[in-house]
Amino acid sequence: MTTIEAVRLIGPGVDRVDGPLKVTGSAPYPGDFGFPGMAHAALVHATVAAGRIRGIDSAAAEAAPGVLAVITHRNAPRLVRGPDTPLWRQPPPPLQDDRILYHGQYVGVVVAETAEQATAAARLIEIDYEPAEPLLDLDDPRAEVVSNPWGMDAHRGDVARGHASADFEVDARYSTPDETNNPMGLFATVASWDGDSLTVHDSTQWPHGVRAALAVAFGVPESGVRVLAPFVGGGFGAALRVWPHVLLTVLAARTAKRPVKLVLTRPEMFTGVGHRTRTLQHIRLGADRSGKLTVLDHESKNSLAIEDDNYEPVAADSAWAYACPNVEVRDLQARLNIPYPTSMRAPGQAQGNFALESALDELAYAIGVDPLELRLRNYAEEQPQLGLPFSSKALRACYEQGAERFGWQARDPRPGSMRDGNWMVGYGMAGVSFFWFQPPCQARVSIRADGTAYVRSSATDIGTGTYTVMTQLAAGLLGLELDQVRLGLGDTDMPAGALEGGSGLTAALGTAVRAACLGIIRACLDTVANDPGSPLRGCRLDELSAADGRIQHVYDAARGESYSDILTRHGLAELTADGDSAPPEPQDVGMAPAGAFAARFAEVRVDPDLGLVRVARVVSAVDAGRILNEKTATSQVIGGTVGGIGMALLEETVTDPATGRIANSNLGDYLVPVNADIPELDVLFVGEPDRFNPIGVKGVGEVGLVGMAAAIANAVFHATGKRIRSLPITVDQLL
Ligand code: MOS
Repeated sequence: MTTIEAVRLIGPGVDRVDGPLKVTGSAPYPGDFGFPGMAHAALVHATVAAGRIRGIDSAAAEAAPGVLAVITHRNAPRLVRGPDTPLWRQPPPPLQDDRILYHGQYVGVVVAETAEQATAAARLIEIDYEPAEPLLDLDDPRAEVVSNPWGMDAHRGDVARGHASADFEVDARYSTPDETNNPMGLFATVASWDGDSLTVHDSTQWPHGVRAALAVAFGVPESGVRVLAPFVGGGFGAALRVWPHVLLTVLAARTAKRPVKLVLTRPEMFTGVGHRTRTLQHIRLGADRSGKLTVLDHESKNSLAIEDDNYEPVAADSAWAYACPNVEVRDLQARLNIPYPTSMRAPGQAQGNFALESALDELAYAIGVDPLELRLRNYAEEQPQLGLPFSSKALRACYEQGAERFGWQARDPRPGSMRDGNWMVGYGMAGVSFFWFQPPCQARVSIRADGTAYVRSSATDIGTGTYTVMTQLAAGLLGLELDQVRLGLGDTDMPAGALEGGSGLTAALGTAVRAACLGIIRACLDTVANDPGSPLRGCRLDELSAADGRIQHVYDAARGESYSDILTRHGLAELTADGDSAPPEPQDVGMAPAGAFAARFAEVRVDPDLGLVRVARVVSAVDAGRILNEKTATSQVIGGTVGGIGMALLEETVTDPATGRIANSNLGDYLVPVNADIPELDVLFVGEPDRFNPIGVKGVGEVGLVGMAAAIANAVFHATGKRIRSLPITVDQLL
């Protein structure tokens, strides 16, 4: 049988199959689509963070040139919220009452002939507010606090006993700020109704999720809603949920009886499509004289919007990252008058790992043991919460090979001991145990009489390389050349793809594509079952392999025939097979499903007079199981690392504490790394194919970000002796 084992562990670094479309500007992004007779929408935002609308004067806007409709809560229809997903509720639908829950909330939408007319008219709407004092502070005692929102709080052993038996203790508090995903592509929605049928182009990481939400919101059958997103200009989590602007565009099209396009502005990308929530974290670690952890206690509080629910387990993964007998992890969320949050490249772990891996560095110094050695002494050989072996874990190899590549042994452990001219030099490291996530997913494959294949699923490629690796996978499994496989993505007329999130799509979609490819071989075998002219007649499925456009006997390549011959002889234009993937239960297979693991090593230079921090080099050793395409996987880790450097040193969404307004909602004031901030980023992959899914992959989309903030903060401590527990690490904290 054709098997994934035939595909090399490190797949060749083939170029992106969608590269030519992208570099020629012909890849269609959601905002590139239009419909005949299309109108344009612009949004009106609340300028207070809490309170009520007393009055709206929209007469001037309604009379403005080109205006077709002005919709506010006074004339908007009821929109139904939902459906809930396993990870989050959809945000509340907009314009349902006069309440203001956050600054920037949409309080109206204007539809006009042109985008400029809509924007100009939106500015003419006068709103009279009855403001209330907003809740903006995570520690505001009036804020409702939600405990254990996902049932992931964990406990084992006895933390009191763990503290009592500790020879060394670390008790430290860490904080991380709000950050904004900021994909380059401004999110766009283009909606067109035809009776009760709806077609929507949308910047989304989950077309089937958008379809379900729109069908519920507007009370129409899902089968009549088509959502398309063949290309998306980045997401980083911002395009996972179905945001109010999507509903408003669809509502605008229904109200104006015209197709409508809405493209968000960059400031709207700060308030309208989620953000990584701020956290306050408290970590207490204890260890005995040998450096073995006796207790690990991690509590996090992060922010949640009013009437919203969102998935952001910050402390949860600390429960299983290390072998420690006495553990407690707790996640809390405080409801504030803030825009709806979302995950931002590594739900919760981006923030939680910073605190845990900083605290371990502090513990290493308290004990006087090398930080890397401390991780090795507390290595979790099995998943400590489940008591099961991991489906794969090469974290030890990440530590060893990463340290070797980085030159960790050259590190003088004393803080402030290493210099390069005036620069203080620091080496820091962090371990990463990334969570496992694999959503259910479907795919369909057709083989055609000309010997080409068409593979499709509604899942998206948000820039990660999904088109490329799925083309490689299908070509490998079917024995075709890359250019004989066409891949379709991002269209709900295709089988239901998983969300592109949680680093779970390659395993989910890859497993579904594999199942569909095997289905094709089975369908070919069935077709020739009674065909005396076929050399494959009578073969069993497990005796077959696919190569060079043919199905053949594994031990006798001459005994076989091409897809073209099979289909042509039987008068078939094509054969189609469906595949789906649903992961097994860990207890049933006796394995704890493993996400990626990584070891991050960073060298920083700190100018003692100016407080400047420069990252001089980074080595990332990553165990992501089978790497289908070393080139795109390396790009993922590099991109994540850049995000991690931003998190460590630059990124912070600043909310005015008096008004709840975001003060830096543009790419001039919200700092992200530029080329000059980024040194050589060295990525190496280690490990074996994972055993939990049949293609052996583990997600690589988020692990590249996790660990960077801690590695850099630990390197800053090594360089300067200053322990920075609050991100981003800025000049004022170092002077
Ligand atoms: Mo990711 S933050 O689950 O797109």
